[in-house]
Amino acid sequence: MSTIDHKTTAADQVVYEGSSLELENVTLAYGDVEVVREVSLRVAPGTTTCVIGPSGSGKSTLLRGINRLHEPKSGDVRVAGRSVLKDRPDELRRRIGMVFQHFNLFPDHTALENVALAPWKVKGQSRAQARQVAEDRLREVGLGERMDHRPRDLSGGQQQRVAIARALAMHPEVMLFDEATSALDPELVKGVLRLMADLCRRGMTMVVVTHEMGFARKVADQVVFMDEGEVVEAGTPDQIFDNPRSDRLRTFLSEVL
Ligand SMILES: Nc1ncnc2c1ncn2[C@@H]1O[C@H](COP(=O)(O)OP(=O)(O)OP(=O)(O)O)[C@@H](O)[C@H]1O
Ligand SMILES: [Mg+2]
Repeated sequence: MSTIDHKTTAADQVVYEGSSLELENVTLAYGDVEVVREVSLRVAPGTTTCVIGPSGSGKSTLLRGINRLHEPKSGDVRVAGRSVLKDRPDELRRRIGMVFQHFNLFPDHTALENVALAPWKVKGQSRAQARQVAEDRLREVGLGERMDHRPRDLSGGQQQRVAIARALAMHPEVMLFDEATSALDPELVKGVLRLMADLCRRGMTMVVVTHEMGFARKVADQVVFMDEGEVVEAGTPDQIFDNPRSDRLRTFLSEVL
């Protein structure tokens, strides 16, 4: 198992050591209905995979299967080369951070408290340690000046950055993003995407479900196109956006680009 080593290089520039992530023939179902079928994926350490595809194609369900918010019906999920299907779910969710469309911050807590809570309560760090981690992560996401603000006194983009800092505070090996910018006003989208691109550059392993095709093209090492619960094509951004092979992907791209 690889450990996450937060090394400080230059001013507040943290280097992450993301782990590899592999899915092998993962199937996820609601009752008898299989909404993700036999998906296999390899995400190399420190790389970003963007998942695109039409509404209802199983993107969110797939992400939830990775950290077992939804237990796979069959198949295997490996982090750093080791199956996580037998891990304790709470332990696994420390290793795999997840950021949602809606930020789910505690409204009565400040940004600092929102970020410090999990290291303190879940990881058992001292209050002082948890506070220090929270301060570092908030600075890292550009909120050094806003630590004492409550969510209602922050913009949507700032709230999402608090949510990202909260996930980072657990020292995850992999980060999952499910449409992290879709609830934001257009002018706030860029800042959050820039932050995500920055995490990628610093070595985090990320799986990003997104409708932001510009982000996928620019930042992704790998783009995965899902339709009807299956991976139809996966490849580099050039392969997926400039040389789509399947009619389904061509149709999808003609609708979103
Ligand atoms: N709780 C649930 N119970 C039953 N079926 C569900 C449930 N949640 C999702 N589904 C179904 O599973 C399929 C995949 O849904 P999912 O949310 O993973 O799609 P998605 O690709 O994330 O779509 P979107 O782009 O709209 O977010 C859809 O057909 C959806 O209706
Ligand atoms: Mg979804």
